[in-house]
Amino acid sequence: MSRSVLVTGGNRGIGLAIARELAANGDKVAVTYRSGEPPEGLLGVRCDITDSAQIDSAFKEVEEAHGPVEVLVANAGANKDQLLALMSEDDFSSVLDTNLTGAFRVAKRAVRGMMRKRFGRVVLISSVVGLLGSAGQANYSASKAGLVGFGRSLARELGSRNITVNVIAPGFIETDMTAALPEDRQAEIKKNVPLGRFGATDDIAKTVAFLAGPGGGYITGAVIPVDGGLGMGH
Ligand code: NAI
Repeated sequence: MSRSVLVTGGNRGIGLAIARELAANGDKVAVTYRSGEPPEGLLGVRCDITDSAQIDSAFKEVEEAHGPVEVLVANAGANKDQLLALMSEDDFSSVLDTNLTGAFRVAKRAVRGMMRKRFGRVVLISSVVGLLGSAGQANYSASKAGLVGFGRSLARELGSRNITVNVIAPGFIETDMTAALPEDRQAEIKKNVPLGRFGATDDIAKTVAFLAGPGGGYITGAVIPVDGGLGMGH
């Protein structure tokens, strides 16, 4: 496989693991990043996904280097946790703007080329929290739940063009974000995970590789939990 892949927020954490996995499988992988240096060995394109003009120039750079994007992984995401009573409207709308509208912006830009090619794989990175809810994360949870309706609508719109659209709902994954949680909170979360541990970024990366690879060709509109069983039944 040597397809043109774009992973948003692919410069660290889960996104970087996804980018490295697809690159190891032979794909030409580009990642968006906002500051600092892009990861070695991957094409870095600077882009803030809240800005359509930056998205358009990032796609142009990728298209010049690797050809039209055939596999899009909308991974970039952010959170601003707060209880509803204390959550400002900006806390709410800025998280929606990044996580949900950001995915809309990149998918819309990517799908143009995929429709022309009559091939495409879109993977949206949601969260178990989008399905279960989470106190203090109404904005984040709403944005991640929104990705499910968004992705399933795209799956219906684009299926006839051989474009699949799927959602991954990760549970707690070992990243800087989860490492920052207090020990007792980590232990409490693990108690609710049937597998009794956090996942690794590679668990998400391998699921993306499967969905974007030949094995995933007949899967669309699916929400795949990669959460150690935490969200079972949702
Ligand atoms: P992270 O904070 O390490 O990485 C997030 C990436 O998104 C960074 O590259 C950041 O620059 C990028 N990003 C954020 N806002 C952006 C914007 N406006 N424009 C462009 N890029 C932007 O987070 P992590 O843990 O690697 O998460 C990746 C995805 O997985 C996120 O969508 C997150 O919500 C989701 N997720 C993470 C879980 C975890 O346990 N770490 C659990 C469930 C979902």
